[in-house]
Amino acid sequence: MPDPSRRMLAEIAAVFRAESRACADRTADILATFPGPDAAACGADADADADVIRALLAASPLAVAHATLAAFDALPWGRNPVASRISAEDNGLYRVANLMGPEGPLFCPTLRAGFYYQRPDTRYGLHSHAAVETYVIIAGRAHWTAGDTQREMAPGHAVHHSTYLPHACQTGPEGVVALWRWSGDIGIESYRMHHGLDAFGAAAARQAGPLPVSRPAGLRPSVPPAVPR
Ligand SMILES: [Fe+2]
Repeated sequence: MPDPSRRMLAEIAAVFRAESRACADRTADILATFPGPDAAACGADADADADVIRALLAASPLAVAHATLAAFDALPWGRNPVASRISAEDNGLYRVANLMGPEGPLFCPTLRAGFYYQRPDTRYGLHSHAAVETYVIIAGRAHWTAGDTQREMAPGHAVHHSTYLPHACQTGPEGVVALWRWSGDIGIESYRMHHGLDAFGAAAARQAGPLPVSRPAGLRPSVPPAVPR
């Protein structure tokens, strides 16, 4: 495996281990076995966004962002596991680079993980799914909704969604790059968009408690490298 991919996967694993959840540790363990994305098959779906994503990663204070930047050309942008469940308009708001899951590139039937990029000044509306989910912001910023709680999210902030907790993401002029992972029931059949801030969102939030936002200990700042071209 090329050193940039190895370093990136090690940094991602450290981020997930910082969650201190068994499912996050398992995700990190499996990522450690990944021989790395196949650069020859990757990247085309994010061509239009690549320069913006690179700039966001370069400006981040986090080591995981800089490791991701160094391995950027090998990232499999475009493998969005729920693309068939959302509208063409919503598909245009964001890009996903799926690292592991039932569809690969690292096959895992029980866990999913990857990168998420949402374009500037866009809203990925309220949606929910059976899978338990964690997002960790690694670059840029976002205004996050989970149930009836809203928070400003910056690099190093993490949010954990319990099963079926409705959530949404609004970006500002920067856009946002995050790591995400799913565990539990990771089938995409339960995924649905909530059109309007319906009562289901508030009810689910009361059941799940307040939105946890934290800065995992595994995220550390580092000196950004030059942006690879
Ligand atoms: Fe989600």
